[in-house]
Amino acid sequence: ALLLCLIPLCCVVPHAACTDCINSQCVDPCENYATLNDDWRSTNNTNTEVLHCDKDINWKGWYRLFLNQTSAHIPERCVESNRCGTHAPLWITQPHPTWSGEIVNRTVCNVWEGSCCHFRSHTIHVKLCHANYYVYKLVKPYTCLLAYCAGNLIGQQHSSRGGGPPG
Ligand SMILES: *[C@@H]1O[C@H](CO)[C@@H](O)[C@H](O)[C@H]1NC(C)=O
Ligand SMILES: *[C@@H]1O[C@H](CO)[C@@H](O)[C@H](O)[C@H]1NC(C)=O
Ligand SMILES: *[C@@H]1O[C@H](CO)[C@@H](O)[C@H](O)[C@H]1NC(C)=O
Repeated sequence: ALLLCLIPLCCVVPHAACTDCINSQCVDPCENYATLNDDWRSTNNTNTEVLHCDKDINWKGWYRLFLNQTSAHIPERCVESNRCGTHAPLWITQPHPTWSGEIVNRTVCNVWEGSCCHFRSHTIHVKLCHANYYVYKLVKPYTCLLAYCAGNLIGQQHSSRGGGPPG
């Protein structure tokens, strides 16, 4: 059946089966995504010799992040600058969605000059897929050099300073 999609992001049942409107058709981003397998996006990457800018990329549709062939996430916490293969790492200011099928929008901030949200922020959409991975509708950040980070939600606890669990 060919459903005509009138609402850009439509969730027929709340928190479930959210679709996106691509070429006027309702498609499930969990099955229509591109893979972004850039090891340089790692939150552990402190190399500043090769730097990237995501404003230079013509983002289109939804992406699933991988690091070393393993599903990865955009960090939910401020990452230090000069990481993730860029000057100002991009992170999301609120948690990932928790309901399978749910699409949420999230503010994307960038870290520069000691500020966790230095340049103009922007919004992306995030969906939690049934098989327990996330897909992101990525768009260009405001300026250069800003790039999306990739980490794992467990690993990010190690990078927090003072805010982590005791011990
Ligand atoms: C990448 O994955 C392989 C296989 O799981 C592992 O042996 C290797 O240590 C990983 N590399 C990094 C940098 O995590
Ligand atoms: C983000 O989502 C909220 C509700 O969850 C909505 O009110 C708002 O318009 C959305 N913003 C964007 C930029 O899509
Ligand atoms: C970064 O390194 C720490 C410590 O080796 C590791 O636990 C974590 O999984 C790594 N994170 C990523 C995104 O590779």
